[in-house]
Amino acid sequence: MSRTAKLTFEGREIELPVEESTEGELAVDVSKLRDAMGMVTLDQSLANTAICRSEITFIDGDQGILRYRGIPIEQLVDRPNFVEIAWLLIFGHLPNRDELAAFSENLSNNQLLHEGLRHQFQHIPVDAPPMAILSAMLNNLACFHQELLSVDDTEQFAHAAARLISKVRTIAAFSYRRSRGLPIIHPDPALRYCANFLHMMFSVPYRHYVIDPEIEDALNLIFILHADHEQNCSTATVRTVGSARANLFASCAAGVCALWGPLHGGANVEVVRMLEEIAAGGLQPEECIRMAKDKQSNFRLYGFGHRVYKNYDPRAKILRDVCDRVFTRIQVRDPLLDIARKLEELALADSYFVDRKLYPNVDFYSGILLRAMGIPTNMFTVCFAIGRLPGWIAHWKEQHDDPASRIIRPRQVYIGVKQTDYAPMNER
Ligand code: ACO
Repeated sequence: MSRTAKLTFEGREIELPVEESTEGELAVDVSKLRDAMGMVTLDQSLANTAICRSEITFIDGDQGILRYRGIPIEQLVDRPNFVEIAWLLIFGHLPNRDELAAFSENLSNNQLLHEGLRHQFQHIPVDAPPMAILSAMLNNLACFHQELLSVDDTEQFAHAAARLISKVRTIAAFSYRRSRGLPIIHPDPALRYCANFLHMMFSVPYRHYVIDPEIEDALNLIFILHADHEQNCSTATVRTVGSARANLFASCAAGVCALWGPLHGGANVEVVRMLEEIAAGGLQPEECIRMAKDKQSNFRLYGFGHRVYKNYDPRAKILRDVCDRVFTRIQVRDPLLDIARKLEELALADSYFVDRKLYPNVDFYSGILLRAMGIPTNMFTVCFAIGRLPGWIAHWKEQHDDPASRIIRPRQVYIGVKQTDYAPMNER
């Protein structure tokens, strides 16, 4: 039997359909509300609004659960590689051997940049923010692969997706090399996805960077943990841009811009900046906690809090343990890890954080791990973007394939002045 919720207002009543998700969450469908009652819903920042139906990722923020296509994130820690997870998210099932081999080959065949695109790096200031470069270059792919702008058939879509997932590493590494005045290192098709990225970042001509399997595995894990997170700010951006039937390159470039913000993916940079300041003696952990609680201060405890998780972010839990493992195996000691633990201990014992259910999120430990790999701070959010790309692509595809999807066009509650007359210049 179909379920409904009743809304009554000034003597009028409407029955609104109630939909149940696979995991039992209820959603009131208000799509006919305006036609029937002449009113809209107000949900600032969409904290309580589902913008679509999705089969890709499930999160239970109260319990700290995250699943990709039904598979708990904890099961993805030791076994698969990032390319397999990219396929899982985009195409909906774990790839068989042939599918994975074909996809990997497609990635290998597309890792080089068009020479025209490569030359563009020379005209970018050396100190340009890598996220600006990434967004511009992803969008620029549309200039060099115009045959993939209309991706209505599955094969064309798979080519566009492979180009993006493969080239994003090359673009990211080239932007780092340029910022350091180092020669560009071309991708090596013999290397696996993460190893190839490390090679392009850190090899120098005639001296190949020796890839430590521990580092390669940790990077693989970081990419997997960032691969999707349902309707977060950047993914919702990709969906919004894609809903106008914008191409995949443009939509993902917009996702990079959203991710750049310090309240979203840019938080991993802010976390490490904060930890560095404490390590340099400019700030005490106790002072950080005090400032984070002070509503007069703009200070935020970056890497803490989440719109959806009101429990420990499962990705942060995994990364915290991996930090220990990696630091022990590669025999590195980073004082920032000790400071992070101290901050976490103070925050989790403080009623401000406890009452508001503010726990470490994925960004709290990811930067420390990336630092241990030699990745510079300004590349942290770029690494997040490389990891998140399969999620953006999966959501773009899901929306594109959904016959019910329409252009995303929210409403507003107008609170400006009522009609007023234009005043000529001499009367103002
Ligand atoms: N430090 C101090 N106080 C915080 C923090 C924090 N990191 N996060 C939330 N709060 C407080 C808010 O001030 C608010 O307090 P109030 O109820 O007294 O007004 C309360 O906790 C609820 O927080 P909201 O702002 O409503 O949470 P929202 O869902 O809007 O924001 C966000 C979530 C942006 C992640 C926020 O927690 C934050 O700014 N965190 C720091 C930045 C960060 O780590 N971002 C990465 C998120 S994960 C990701 O995007 C990959």
